[in-house]
Amino acid sequence: MPSSFASWSAEFRPRVEAELDELLPAVEESPRRLHEALRHAVFAGGKRVRPLLTVLAGAETRTALRAGACVELIHTYSLVHDDLPALDDDDLRRGRPTVHRAYDEATAILTGDSLLTLGLSTLAALPLESAGAARAVALVGEAIGTRGMIGGQMEDLEAEKNWPSEPEAALERIHRLKTGALLVASVRLGGLCQGVSEAEDTRLRELGERVGLLFQIGDDILDVEGTSESLGKTAGKDAASEKLTYPGLYGLDESRRLRSAVHAEALDRAATLPQAEIWRDFLDFLVERSS
Ligand code: IPE
Ligand code: IPE
Ligand code: MG
Ligand code: MG
Ligand code: MG
Repeated sequence: MPSSFASWSAEFRPRVEAELDELLPAVEESPRRLHEALRHAVFAGGKRVRPLLTVLAGAETRTALRAGACVELIHTYSLVHDDLPALDDDDLRRGRPTVHRAYDEATAILTGDSLLTLGLSTLAALPLESAGAARAVALVGEAIGTRGMIGGQMEDLEAEKNWPSEPEAALERIHRLKTGALLVASVRLGGLCQGVSEAEDTRLRELGERVGLLFQIGDDILDVEGTSESLGKTAGKDAASEKLTYPGLYGLDESRRLRSAVHAEALDRAATLPQAEIWRDFLDFLVERSS
């Protein structure tokens, strides 16, 4: 029997795709090369985890769908820049050549800039009452700034060169920032779209934090266990770059055990949410995923 998340996401993934298509400029519009590169990056089989989190936490409204698409644009920007030669230097992403490979480095930098700008400006125009759109921009902006995703990216790169003196704490912090912060914001953004109470926002944040950690532990495990073909990105890259990762620090078995513990905490927090069954299957999907 398909999981409730499988059938739910079969309905909402195409709607996320349609929203993204509507937001992105047509390839025919000038500068064509840049607009083509944006679509190359976005329409390449991403799992759309973040927008689906926003839609589920946001009671499936049209506004939550649009907000989720903004987060996906911003996430895609982070991938395009993460892959650049100066950062992780990757050739493959979402089963295609990375933007700097398919086009060139300048186009990849501008593609990232464009996706970030489009994501934030579209969030600012969300049809929400009482400064809701401004709060949405602030929520996401803080999550991706130097105290969030970008800060985590910097510390991830620094840890390659200088092994931190307290690697366990550094690793958890890097993961919380580089991946967790935007996932937390994705979940809370859904709540914001439907005007949840402070107590509900806290519950969503706590759930998002667990999702963030279990997701990045999974990303590290897949880098060891997956193939480039199944992942759509180069496998084995973390060990080759001497990245600080869960399997690198704790080994695969202990990484899986740590992920299970975080998964259990997430399940606990999702159990009382509306659509708890879909949440449960969504969390299982995040743990069982192979790409
Ligand atoms: C990959 O994210 C980068 C991380 C933050 C771990 P995803 O695994 O969500 O990548 P896509 O969007 O499905 O390609
Ligand atoms: C990427 O982390 C995090 C961001 C893009 C912010 P990784 O470097 O582990 O992601 P992958 O493995 O290249 O997808
Ligand atoms: Mg990276
Ligand atoms: Mg990378
Ligand atoms: Mg990775």
